[in-house]
Amino acid sequence: MSSFDVVSDLRVGHIVEVSGTSVRVELDGSLTELTRSYAGRVYAIGQMGSIVKIHFGRNLVFGFVTLLRMRSEELIEQGKVIPPDADQRIMEVELFAEGVWQTATNSLRFKRGVSIYPLPRQGVHLLTSDEALALYAAAEGQREEEKFSPLVKFGTYAGTEAASCRANIDRMFSMHCAVLGSTGSGKSGAVAAVLHGLLDHRAKEGFPFSPRGIVIDPHAEYGAAFKDRAVIYTAYDPINPEEAEGERVELPYWLMSAEEFRMLVIGKTEQEATSQNNIIYKALTHARMVAANLVDPAPTNFTKPPDDGLDPDVPRPKQGVSQTALDAFDSDKPRPFSLDEFYNHIKYCQAVKNDGTAMSPTEFNQKFRSVIDKLGVLRRDPRIQFLIRNWTIQSIPLSAILSQFVGETEVAAKDLRILDISGLPNEVAGPLTAALARLLFRYKVHQTPTERDRDPLLLVCEEAHRYVPDRGEAEYAEAQNAIRRIAREGRKYGLGLMLVSQRPADIDSTVIAQCGTWLVLRLTNQADQQHVARFLPDGLSGMTKALPNLGQQEAIFVGEGAALPSRIRIDNLSIEKLPKSRNARFAEGWSSIRLTKDELERIADRMAG
Ligand SMILES: Nc1ncnc2c1ncn2[C@@H]1O[C@H](COP(=O)(O)OP(=O)(O)OP(=O)(O)O)[C@@H](O)[C@H]1O
Ligand SMILES: [Mg+2]
Repeated sequence: MSSFDVVSDLRVGHIVEVSGTSVRVELDGSLTELTRSYAGRVYAIGQMGSIVKIHFGRNLVFGFVTLLRMRSEELIEQGKVIPPDADQRIMEVELFAEGVWQTATNSLRFKRGVSIYPLPRQGVHLLTSDEALALYAAAEGQREEEKFSPLVKFGTYAGTEAASCRANIDRMFSMHCAVLGSTGSGKSGAVAAVLHGLLDHRAKEGFPFSPRGIVIDPHAEYGAAFKDRAVIYTAYDPINPEEAEGERVELPYWLMSAEEFRMLVIGKTEQEATSQNNIIYKALTHARMVAANLVDPAPTNFTKPPDDGLDPDVPRPKQGVSQTALDAFDSDKPRPFSLDEFYNHIKYCQAVKNDGTAMSPTEFNQKFRSVIDKLGVLRRDPRIQFLIRNWTIQSIPLSAILSQFVGETEVAAKDLRILDISGLPNEVAGPLTAALARLLFRYKVHQTPTERDRDPLLLVCEEAHRYVPDRGEAEYAEAQNAIRRIAREGRKYGLGLMLVSQRPADIDSTVIAQCGTWLVLRLTNQADQQHVARFLPDGLSGMTKALPNLGQQEAIFVGEGAALPSRIRIDNLSIEKLPKSRNARFAEGWSSIRLTKDELERIADRMAG
């Protein structure tokens, strides 16, 4: 018997109602158990996420089981009276695709979407495991030898022996994806499975494959899982600042636009903001012009300015430079500048009278004191040296900063770059992630189309709700705009996002609505389920009913990157490939002696220091 024949042993029920792509199926009354044996195998009936078929001669329509319940439950929900014969089981099925079995080639011709709708009373059949394999293979598409295969394995389809589930990374990353699930459901494991899948992938015989993935890692979990395949960057180690593990990251302040730098120095707009903003913009333009060799450095003490009738703080082209060059200067570009120049310009060009002498202390305090003080505080903060260390001619250039994240590494095959932000206070983690997200976005924008084609990037954001919350303040407020921008426009430039969160309801809805692919693990909170239902592709919201009952490592995989909406099992990872989650072990901890007075003192120093 060949595949996709009508086999009466596989029939489990008939359609009682069709509305759009949703159909209700009444299971045959003769079914006492929810399993069926066929050709030596036992099949479960009505499993959430399992696939059923409806025959139309040689044509087939496929659907996905979203719910199974008693007719009486349905009636209760509708507030109706339950007749004595309401003991049928009702299965809800979402139709998603059609196919025709080709006997000549022994394959299934497959098409997403439904054009012929079944009718009430039509039979509904189970799929044999061979048929399921044929369906998944047809849906994922066959590998074409001349092309670069975008199909990356990271799991198996549930309900099959071991049919590989492969994500289409071209679609999944270009249109962003979300990995959601309650805490402990296996999100980090799933992300790691996808990343390992990428690292093991070969898109085409004879071509190396080097995925460009950058992971923002708030819990220091990913380093352990990708020891040989990733460079791990840290910004600052609060416990052991001198000997932190991992490479030191450099994301200096001068990458910022004028507006971003102003935000760093004076924070959100304050009362006296406009005048403060101008102080900062003027000083910044000056400092960038000095570094670009367009103007002379500011004086380092009170000096009489040139006799040209202009204010002391106006930029004057240095010898050999035209005024046009100054006029055309864009102070927003990520050009280096020295903080000393910035400071000197405020102190000796702006905070002076027109003859170059110091202004009165009262006036100075009123206008300039707070900017100068805030700058001083930033420069002294050891935690943000990666950001605020003064630029000099010897400092690392922009190309080297980019290279940390997208360049070749000394040790080959370190494809992933992991930015460990664990243990950093929000004041540090915020600017750091913001700087990274902005840097990557600008880098992509300034590539030529050919460069872009050779260099798509994936940015993985764990704890996405911290960056782009739906309401209230972002913990990493500085990163918010940058991540939003990537969500909105990243697709055009080949910058994909993978947003990971245990609190989908708390993520900015405009951002989450941009995601085209969803990998949803067990989700127990109802608000979160409803939230996910709102964003799932049409008709699939019914699948959210399956979410609280998913097993460990099980997930619903839907959207652009998925061949079929499907229930899958994430590949099992061995311990050394798994993100190291740090669950506290109370029994063991409480079996050891308490921390000593000395130890407490050291902790107290760290806290206060
Ligand atoms: N793919 C996998 N292979 C093997 N074990 C896994 C896998 N995924 C998860 N696990 C196991 O489940 C545990 C919890 O998974 P994981 O840390 O990925 O959950 P999570 O959803 O990221 O949780 P959190 O919200 O706390 O970050 C892991 O410590 C691991 O033991
Ligand atoms: Mg996790």
